[in-house]
Amino acid sequence: MKILVVGSGGREHALAWKIAASPRVEKVYAAPGNAGMCSVAECLPIRSDDIDAVVKFAVDNGIGLVVVGPEVPLVGGMVDALSLAGIKAFGPTAKAAVLEGSKIFAKEIMTKCGVPTAAYRSFDQPEEAAAWVELVGAPLVIKADGLAAGKGVIIARTSADAHRAIDDILIKSVFGSAGRRLLVEEMLDGEEASLMAFCDGENVVLMDAAQDYKRVSDGDAGPNTGGMGCYSPVAPVTPLIREMALENVFRPVIAEMASMGVPFKGVLYAGLMLTADGPMVLEFNVRFGDPETQVILPRMEGDLVDVMEACVDGRLDQVELKWSERKAVSVVMASGGYPAAYSTGYPITGLEDAAKLDDVVVFHAGTAMADGSIVTAGGRVLNVTALGDSFCGATARAYEAVNAISFKDAHWRSDIAKRAIDREVTDER
Ligand code: AMP
Ligand code: GLY
Repeated sequence: MKILVVGSGGREHALAWKIAASPRVEKVYAAPGNAGMCSVAECLPIRSDDIDAVVKFAVDNGIGLVVVGPEVPLVGGMVDALSLAGIKAFGPTAKAAVLEGSKIFAKEIMTKCGVPTAAYRSFDQPEEAAAWVELVGAPLVIKADGLAAGKGVIIARTSADAHRAIDDILIKSVFGSAGRRLLVEEMLDGEEASLMAFCDGENVVLMDAAQDYKRVSDGDAGPNTGGMGCYSPVAPVTPLIREMALENVFRPVIAEMASMGVPFKGVLYAGLMLTADGPMVLEFNVRFGDPETQVILPRMEGDLVDVMEACVDGRLDQVELKWSERKAVSVVMASGGYPAAYSTGYPITGLEDAAKLDDVVVFHAGTAMADGSIVTAGGRVLNVTALGDSFCGATARAYEAVNAISFKDAHWRSDIAKRAIDREVTDER
Protein backbone atom coordinates (compact mmCIF):
# COMPACT_ATOMS: atom_id res chain seq x y z
CA MET A 1 0.00 0.00 0.00
CA LYS A 2 1.18 3.54 -0.79
CA ILE A 3 0.58 6.26 1.79
CA LEU A 4 0.78 10.04 1.41
CA VAL A 5 1.49 12.17 4.50
CA VAL A 6 0.45 15.83 4.13
CA GLY A 7 2.54 18.38 6.04
CA SER A 8 6.16 19.34 6.68
CA GLY A 9 6.73 19.52 10.44
CA GLY A 10 8.08 17.30 13.19
CA ARG A 11 4.63 15.77 13.62
CA GLU A 12 4.58 14.69 9.98
CA HIS A 13 8.12 13.31 10.19
CA ALA A 14 7.04 11.19 13.18
CA LEU A 15 3.92 10.05 11.31
CA ALA A 16 5.88 9.13 8.17
CA TRP A 17 8.50 7.33 10.32
CA LYS A 18 5.87 5.23 12.12
CA ILE A 19 3.91 4.56 8.91
CA ALA A 20 7.09 3.48 7.08
CA ALA A 21 7.62 0.87 9.82
CA SER A 22 4.37 -0.88 8.85
CA PRO A 23 4.96 -4.14 6.95
CA ARG A 24 1.88 -3.30 4.87
CA VAL A 25 3.40 -0.14 3.44
CA GLU A 26 5.36 -0.33 0.20
CA LYS A 27 6.03 3.40 -0.18
CA VAL A 28 5.49 6.65 1.73
CA TYR A 29 5.17 10.05 0.05
CA ALA A 30 5.17 13.44 1.76
CA ALA A 31 3.61 16.71 0.58
CA PRO A 32 5.82 18.67 0.89
CA GLY A 33 7.83 16.97 3.68
CA ASN A 34 11.25 18.19 4.84
CA ALA A 35 14.92 17.19 4.60
CA GLY A 36 14.59 14.59 7.38
CA MET A 37 11.48 13.00 5.92
CA CYS A 38 13.38 12.17 2.73
CA SER A 39 14.94 9.21 4.58
CA VAL A 40 11.52 7.55 5.06
CA ALA A 41 9.42 9.13 2.28
CA GLU A 42 9.61 10.58 -1.20
CA CYS A 43 9.05 14.32 -0.78
CA LEU A 44 6.81 15.98 -3.37
CA PRO A 45 6.76 19.63 -4.45
CA ILE A 46 3.14 20.00 -3.29
CA ARG A 47 2.12 22.45 -0.57
CA SER A 48 0.18 21.05 2.39
CA ASP A 49 -2.76 23.38 1.71
CA ASP A 50 -2.97 22.67 -2.05
CA ILE A 51 -6.06 20.45 -1.95
CA ASP A 52 -6.38 20.06 -5.75
CA ALA A 53 -2.74 19.00 -6.17
CA VAL A 54 -2.94 16.50 -3.28
CA VAL A 55 -6.13 14.94 -4.71
CA LYS A 56 -4.63 14.75 -8.21
CA PHE A 57 -1.42 13.11 -6.97
CA ALA A 58 -3.37 10.60 -4.88
CA VAL A 59 -5.65 9.63 -7.78
CA ASP A 60 -2.86 9.47 -10.38
CA ASN A 61 -0.58 7.38 -8.17
CA GLY A 62 -2.96 4.88 -6.58
CA ILE A 63 -2.49 6.15 -3.03
CA GLY A 64 -4.22 3.81 -0.56
CA LEU A 65 -4.40 6.24 2.35
CA VAL A 66 -3.74 9.98 2.76
CA VAL A 67 -2.87 11.16 6.27
CA VAL A 68 -3.47 14.88 6.75
CA GLY A 69 -1.27 16.34 9.53
CA PRO A 70 -2.04 20.08 9.90
CA GLU A 71 -5.33 21.78 10.78
CA VAL A 72 -5.44 24.23 7.86
CA PRO A 73 -6.06 21.65 5.08
CA LEU A 74 -8.47 19.75 7.38
CA VAL A 75 -10.55 22.85 8.06
CA GLY A 76 -10.26 23.66 4.34
CA GLY A 77 -11.89 20.36 3.34
CA MET A 78 -8.99 18.20 2.11
CA VAL A 79 -10.52 15.01 3.52
CA ASP A 80 -13.89 15.83 1.90
CA ALA A 81 -12.21 16.37 -1.49
CA LEU A 82 -10.20 13.14 -1.23
CA SER A 83 -13.26 11.10 -0.22
CA LEU A 84 -15.20 12.57 -3.12
CA ALA A 85 -12.43 11.38 -5.44
CA GLY A 86 -12.63 7.88 -3.93
CA ILE A 87 -9.41 8.14 -1.91
CA LYS A 88 -9.26 6.98 1.72
CA ALA A 89 -8.20 9.85 3.94
CA PHE A 90 -7.41 9.94 7.66
CA GLY A 91 -8.77 13.02 9.42
CA PRO A 92 -12.07 14.84 9.96
CA THR A 93 -14.21 16.44 7.26
CA ALA A 94 -14.32 20.25 7.11
CA LYS A 95 -17.58 20.30 9.05
CA ALA A 96 -16.18 18.12 11.83
CA ALA A 97 -12.90 20.09 11.86
CA VAL A 98 -14.87 23.13 13.06
CA LEU A 99 -14.23 21.74 16.56
CA GLU A 100 -10.77 23.32 16.12
CA GLY A 101 -11.66 25.92 13.46
CA SER A 102 -14.05 27.75 15.79
CA LYS A 103 -13.37 27.93 19.51
CA ILE A 104 -16.91 29.27 19.99
CA PHE A 105 -18.42 26.23 18.23
CA ALA A 106 -16.27 23.99 20.46
CA LYS A 107 -17.54 25.80 23.57
CA GLU A 108 -21.15 25.51 22.43
CA ILE A 109 -20.79 21.76 21.93
CA MET A 110 -19.11 21.41 25.32
CA THR A 111 -21.88 23.36 27.03
CA LYS A 112 -24.51 21.22 25.30
CA CYS A 113 -22.83 17.98 26.42
CA GLY A 114 -21.90 19.13 29.92
CA VAL A 115 -18.16 18.83 29.24
CA PRO A 116 -16.17 20.44 32.06
CA THR A 117 -14.56 23.62 30.67
CA ALA A 118 -13.92 27.22 31.76
CA ALA A 119 -16.98 29.51 31.99
CA TYR A 120 -17.10 31.84 28.98
CA ARG A 121 -18.95 34.44 26.93
CA SER A 122 -18.53 35.10 23.20
CA PHE A 123 -18.55 38.56 21.60
CA ASP A 124 -18.32 40.26 18.22
CA GLN A 125 -18.76 43.83 19.53
CA PRO A 126 -15.74 45.36 21.33
CA GLU A 127 -17.89 47.54 23.63
CA GLU A 128 -19.84 44.52 24.88
CA ALA A 129 -16.68 42.48 25.46
CA ALA A 130 -15.11 45.43 27.33
CA ALA A 131 -18.20 45.87 29.50
CA TRP A 132 -18.07 42.16 30.39
CA VAL A 133 -14.40 42.48 31.41
CA GLU A 134 -15.34 45.40 33.69
CA LEU A 135 -18.12 43.35 35.25
CA VAL A 136 -16.17 40.13 35.98
CA GLY A 137 -12.61 41.53 36.35
CA ALA A 138 -9.21 39.96 35.59
CA PRO A 139 -7.56 37.50 35.40
CA LEU A 140 -9.22 36.31 32.19
CA VAL A 141 -8.27 34.50 29.02
CA ILE A 142 -9.15 36.13 25.68
CA LYS A 143 -9.26 33.89 22.59
CA ALA A 144 -9.75 34.72 18.92
CA ASP A 145 -12.46 32.40 17.59
CA GLY A 146 -10.70 31.08 14.47
CA LEU A 147 -7.35 29.54 13.50
CA ALA A 148 -4.46 31.81 14.47
CA ALA A 149 -1.48 29.43 14.27
CA GLY A 150 -1.49 28.98 18.04
CA LYS A 151 -1.14 32.72 18.71
CA GLY A 152 -4.80 33.64 19.28
CA VAL A 153 -4.89 33.03 23.05
CA ILE A 154 -4.03 35.90 25.41
CA ILE A 155 -3.69 35.35 29.15
CA ALA A 156 -4.90 38.67 30.59
CA ARG A 157 -3.66 39.03 34.16
CA THR A 158 -5.06 42.58 34.43
CA SER A 159 -8.15 44.31 33.02
CA ALA A 160 -5.81 46.51 30.96
CA ASP A 161 -4.35 43.37 29.31
CA ALA A 162 -7.87 42.16 28.56
CA HIS A 163 -8.94 45.48 27.02
CA ARG A 164 -5.78 45.55 24.89
CA ALA A 165 -6.45 42.00 23.65
CA ILE A 166 -10.06 42.87 22.76
CA ASP A 167 -8.88 45.95 20.83
CA ASP A 168 -6.20 43.95 19.02
CA ILE A 169 -8.62 41.20 18.00
CA LEU A 170 -11.91 42.98 17.27
CA ILE A 171 -10.73 46.48 16.24
CA LYS A 172 -7.18 46.17 14.91
CA SER A 173 -7.92 42.70 13.44
CA VAL A 174 -4.41 41.41 14.19
CA PHE A 175 -5.63 37.85 13.51
CA GLY A 176 -7.61 38.83 10.41
CA SER A 177 -10.91 37.03 9.93
CA ALA A 178 -9.97 34.53 12.68
CA GLY A 179 -10.69 37.40 15.08
CA ARG A 180 -14.15 38.46 13.91
CA ARG A 181 -15.43 36.99 17.17
CA LEU A 182 -13.72 36.21 20.44
CA LEU A 183 -14.17 34.35 23.70
CA VAL A 184 -13.65 35.78 27.15
CA GLU A 185 -12.93 32.88 29.49
CA GLU A 186 -12.46 32.25 33.17
CA MET A 187 -8.81 31.51 33.98
CA LEU A 188 -8.22 27.98 35.24
CA ASP A 189 -5.41 26.81 37.44
CA GLY A 190 -3.56 23.50 37.43
CA GLU A 191 -1.12 21.33 35.51
CA GLU A 192 -1.77 20.93 31.77
CA ALA A 193 -1.77 17.70 29.78
CA SER A 194 -2.57 16.72 26.21
CA LEU A 195 -4.81 13.72 25.70
CA MET A 196 -5.48 12.48 22.17
CA ALA A 197 -7.92 9.84 20.97
CA PHE A 198 -8.50 7.94 17.76
CA CYS A 199 -12.14 8.29 16.68
CA ASP A 200 -14.14 6.51 13.97
CA GLY A 201 -17.29 8.63 14.18
CA GLU A 202 -18.68 6.52 17.00
CA ASN A 203 -15.95 4.75 18.95
CA VAL A 204 -13.11 6.38 20.87
CA VAL A 205 -9.71 4.88 21.76
CA LEU A 206 -7.52 7.03 24.01
CA MET A 207 -3.79 7.33 23.50
CA ASP A 208 -1.34 7.78 26.36
CA ALA A 209 -1.01 11.37 27.58
CA ALA A 210 1.79 13.81 26.82
CA GLN A 211 2.85 17.13 28.29
CA ASP A 212 3.89 20.02 26.09
CA TYR A 213 6.15 22.94 27.07
CA LYS A 214 4.59 25.95 25.36
CA ARG A 215 6.70 28.84 26.66
CA VAL A 216 9.99 29.63 24.96
CA SER A 217 12.28 29.73 28.02
CA ASP A 218 13.16 27.61 31.04
CA GLY A 219 10.78 27.82 33.98
CA ASP A 220 7.88 28.61 31.62
CA ALA A 221 9.11 32.16 31.04
CA GLY A 222 8.77 34.21 27.86
CA PRO A 223 6.20 34.14 25.07
CA ASN A 224 4.15 31.17 23.89
CA THR A 225 5.48 29.04 21.03
CA GLY A 226 4.18 26.11 19.01
CA GLY A 227 5.80 23.92 21.70
CA MET A 228 9.45 23.68 22.83
CA GLY A 229 9.43 20.09 24.02
CA CYS A 230 7.30 17.25 25.27
CA TYR A 231 7.31 14.06 27.27
CA SER A 232 5.12 10.99 27.69
CA PRO A 233 3.61 9.33 29.71
CA VAL A 234 2.28 11.84 32.25
CA ALA A 235 1.86 10.44 35.80
CA PRO A 236 -0.83 12.95 36.91
CA VAL A 237 -3.04 11.66 34.10
CA THR A 238 -4.02 8.66 36.21
CA PRO A 239 -6.33 5.85 35.06
CA LEU A 240 -9.14 7.67 36.92
CA ILE A 241 -8.47 10.95 35.08
CA ARG A 242 -8.42 9.05 31.77
CA GLU A 243 -11.75 7.45 32.61
CA MET A 244 -13.19 10.86 33.52
CA ALA A 245 -11.91 12.35 30.27
CA LEU A 246 -13.27 9.45 28.24
CA GLU A 247 -16.73 9.49 29.83
CA ASN A 248 -17.15 13.25 30.38
CA VAL A 249 -15.31 14.67 27.37
CA PHE A 250 -14.56 12.37 24.43
CA ARG A 251 -17.61 10.08 24.35
CA PRO A 252 -20.25 12.85 24.76
CA VAL A 253 -18.61 15.12 22.15
CA ILE A 254 -18.24 12.30 19.60
CA ALA A 255 -21.87 11.23 20.22
CA GLU A 256 -23.11 14.83 19.86
CA MET A 257 -21.20 15.33 16.60
CA ALA A 258 -22.69 12.07 15.26
CA SER A 259 -26.21 13.11 16.26
CA MET A 260 -25.68 16.42 14.42
CA GLY A 261 -24.91 14.41 11.28
CA VAL A 262 -21.22 15.36 11.43
CA PRO A 263 -19.43 12.21 12.60
CA PHE A 264 -15.88 12.92 13.75
CA LYS A 265 -13.18 10.63 12.34
CA GLY A 266 -9.47 11.00 12.94
CA VAL A 267 -7.64 12.24 16.03
CA LEU A 268 -9.41 14.42 18.57
CA TYR A 269 -6.95 16.21 20.84
CA ALA A 270 -8.09 17.67 24.14
CA GLY A 271 -5.84 20.19 25.87
CA LEU A 272 -6.71 19.55 29.53
CA MET A 273 -6.21 21.50 32.73
CA LEU A 274 -5.98 19.07 35.63
CA THR A 275 -7.89 21.04 38.24
CA ALA A 276 -8.83 20.11 41.80
CA ASP A 277 -12.30 19.29 40.40
CA GLY A 278 -11.00 16.96 37.67
CA PRO A 279 -9.86 17.45 34.08
CA MET A 280 -11.29 20.50 32.27
CA VAL A 281 -10.96 21.17 28.54
CA LEU A 282 -8.91 24.19 27.42
CA GLU A 283 -9.17 23.49 23.71
CA PHE A 284 -9.86 20.87 21.09
CA ASN A 285 -7.63 20.18 18.12
CA VAL A 286 -8.77 17.93 15.29
CA ARG A 287 -5.38 16.38 14.54
CA PHE A 288 -2.28 14.95 16.15
CA GLY A 289 -0.50 17.40 18.47
CA ASP A 290 2.87 18.84 17.57
CA PRO A 291 5.23 18.04 19.39
CA GLU A 292 3.04 15.51 21.29
CA THR A 293 3.13 13.08 18.35
CA GLN A 294 6.93 12.99 18.49
CA VAL A 295 6.80 11.38 21.97
CA ILE A 296 3.57 9.40 21.54
CA LEU A 297 4.36 7.44 18.36
CA PRO A 298 7.77 6.18 19.55
CA ARG A 299 5.92 4.62 22.52
CA MET A 300 3.05 3.19 20.49
CA GLU A 301 3.32 -0.51 19.72
CA GLY A 302 1.68 -2.15 16.73
CA ASP A 303 0.78 -0.90 13.29
CA LEU A 304 -0.42 2.73 13.04
CA VAL A 305 -1.77 2.09 9.54
CA ASP A 306 -4.17 -0.57 10.87
CA VAL A 307 -5.47 1.88 13.48
CA MET A 308 -5.91 4.68 10.94
CA GLU A 309 -7.78 2.41 8.55
CA ALA A 310 -10.03 1.25 11.38
CA CYS A 311 -10.89 4.92 12.04
CA VAL A 312 -11.75 5.58 8.40
CA ASP A 313 -13.77 2.33 8.08
CA GLY A 314 -15.62 2.64 11.40
CA ARG A 315 -14.00 -0.47 12.95
CA LEU A 316 -12.28 1.10 15.93
CA ASP A 317 -14.25 -1.11 18.33
CA GLN A 318 -11.92 -3.93 17.20
CA VAL A 319 -8.75 -2.00 18.05
CA GLU A 320 -6.78 -2.03 21.27
CA LEU A 321 -3.67 0.11 21.57
CA LYS A 322 -0.55 -1.08 23.36
CA TRP A 323 2.06 1.26 24.81
CA SER A 324 5.69 0.73 25.66
CA GLU A 325 6.52 1.18 29.35
CA ARG A 326 9.48 3.29 28.26
CA LYS A 327 9.57 7.06 28.71
CA ALA A 328 9.92 9.44 25.78
CA VAL A 329 11.33 12.96 25.84
CA SER A 330 11.60 15.36 22.91
CA VAL A 331 13.58 18.60 22.95
CA VAL A 332 12.90 21.22 20.29
CA MET A 333 15.94 22.97 18.81
CA ALA A 334 14.75 26.32 17.46
CA SER A 335 16.13 29.12 15.30
CA GLY A 336 17.57 32.20 17.07
CA GLY A 337 14.75 34.72 17.62
CA TYR A 338 11.89 32.20 17.46
CA PRO A 339 8.96 32.65 18.23
CA ALA A 340 9.58 36.20 16.89
CA ALA A 341 11.45 36.86 13.63
CA TYR A 342 14.32 34.49 12.77
CA SER A 343 16.71 33.78 9.90
CA THR A 344 16.97 30.47 8.06
CA GLY A 345 19.37 28.73 5.69
CA TYR A 346 22.05 27.88 8.27
CA PRO A 347 23.84 24.52 7.82
CA ILE A 348 23.09 21.90 10.51
CA THR A 349 25.98 19.70 11.66
CA GLY A 350 26.17 16.67 13.92
CA LEU A 351 22.98 14.95 12.77
CA GLU A 352 24.82 11.69 12.01
CA ASP A 353 26.53 11.70 15.42
CA ALA A 354 23.18 12.22 17.15
CA ALA A 355 21.57 9.45 15.11
CA LYS A 356 24.30 7.01 16.21
CA LEU A 357 23.23 7.30 19.86
CA ASP A 358 21.06 4.42 21.09
CA ASP A 359 17.36 5.17 21.59
CA VAL A 360 17.56 8.53 19.80
CA VAL A 361 15.54 9.64 16.81
CA VAL A 362 15.80 13.16 15.45
CA PHE A 363 12.56 14.30 13.85
CA HIS A 364 12.98 17.25 11.50
CA ALA A 365 10.52 20.12 11.93
CA GLY A 366 11.91 22.94 9.78
CA THR A 367 14.76 21.77 7.55
CA ALA A 368 15.54 21.79 3.84
CA MET A 369 18.27 20.60 1.50
CA ALA A 370 20.52 23.26 -0.01
CA ASP A 371 23.54 22.39 -2.16
CA GLY A 372 23.53 18.85 -0.84
CA SER A 373 23.51 19.76 2.85
CA ILE A 374 20.74 20.07 5.43
CA VAL A 375 19.94 23.64 6.47
CA THR A 376 17.48 25.33 8.83
CA ALA A 377 14.17 26.30 7.21
CA GLY A 378 11.76 27.15 10.03
CA GLY A 379 11.33 28.45 13.58
CA ARG A 380 11.27 25.03 15.14
CA VAL A 381 14.06 23.14 13.40
CA LEU A 382 14.52 19.73 15.07
CA ASN A 383 12.67 17.57 17.61
CA VAL A 384 15.41 15.57 19.28
CA THR A 385 13.64 12.58 20.80
CA ALA A 386 14.96 9.86 23.11
CA LEU A 387 13.52 6.83 24.86
CA GLY A 388 14.70 5.45 28.20
CA ASP A 389 13.67 3.22 31.07
CA SER A 390 13.32 6.32 33.25
CA PHE A 391 12.70 10.00 32.52
CA CYS A 392 16.09 10.70 34.01
CA GLY A 393 17.76 8.41 31.44
CA ALA A 394 15.62 9.47 28.47
CA THR A 395 16.17 13.15 29.18
CA ALA A 396 19.95 12.77 29.60
CA ARG A 397 20.06 10.90 26.30
CA ALA A 398 17.97 13.55 24.51
CA TYR A 399 20.27 16.35 25.68
CA GLU A 400 23.36 14.30 24.76
CA ALA A 401 21.97 14.24 21.22
CA VAL A 402 21.09 17.96 21.32
CA ASN A 403 24.67 18.73 22.32
CA ALA A 404 25.98 16.73 19.37
CA ILE A 405 24.03 18.93 16.92
CA SER A 406 24.71 22.53 16.05
CA PHE A 407 23.53 25.35 13.83
CA LYS A 408 23.99 29.11 14.09
CA ASP A 409 21.99 30.75 16.91
CA ALA A 410 20.24 27.49 17.91
CA HIS A 411 18.33 27.65 21.17
CA TRP A 412 16.38 25.16 23.26
CA ARG A 413 14.94 24.75 26.72
CA SER A 414 17.10 22.88 29.20
CA ASP A 415 14.26 21.85 31.53
CA ILE A 416 12.13 19.57 29.33
CA ALA A 417 10.67 16.68 31.41
CA LYS A 418 12.11 18.18 34.61
CA ARG A 419 8.69 17.82 36.27
CA ALA A 420 8.62 14.12 35.39
CA ILE A 421 12.18 13.64 36.68
CA ASP A 422 11.30 15.42 39.94
CA ARG A 423 8.34 13.09 40.39
CA GLU A 424 10.61 10.07 39.77
CA VAL A 425 13.03 11.30 42.43
CA THR A 426 10.17 11.91 44.91
CA ASP A 427 8.72 8.45 44.22
CA GLU A 428 12.09 6.82 44.95
CA ARG A 429 12.32 8.45 48.37
P1 AMP B 1 -5.35 26.95 23.77
O1 AMP B 1 -4.76 27.20 22.41
O2 AMP B 1 -6.79 27.27 23.90
O3 AMP B 1 -4.94 25.63 24.38
O4 AMP B 1 -4.58 27.96 24.71
C1 AMP B 1 -3.17 28.01 24.74
C2 AMP B 1 -2.69 28.00 26.16
O5 AMP B 1 -3.33 29.05 26.89
C3 AMP B 1 -3.07 26.74 26.91
O6 AMP B 1 -2.15 25.71 26.71
C4 AMP B 1 -3.05 27.23 28.33
O7 AMP B 1 -1.72 27.31 28.82
C5 AMP B 1 -3.58 28.63 28.21
N1 AMP B 1 -5.04 28.68 28.46
C6 AMP B 1 -6.03 28.57 27.56
N2 AMP B 1 -7.24 28.65 28.14
C7 AMP B 1 -7.01 28.84 29.46
C8 AMP B 1 -7.84 29.01 30.61
N3 AMP B 1 -9.18 29.04 30.51
N4 AMP B 1 -7.24 29.14 31.80
C9 AMP B 1 -5.90 29.14 31.92
N5 AMP B 1 -5.05 29.00 30.89
C10 AMP B 1 -5.59 28.85 29.66
N1 GLY C 1 1.07 21.12 20.98
C1 GLY C 1 -0.11 21.87 20.77
C2 GLY C 1 -0.76 21.64 19.47
O1 GLY C 1 -0.44 20.73 18.74
O2 GLY C 1 -1.65 22.41 19.13
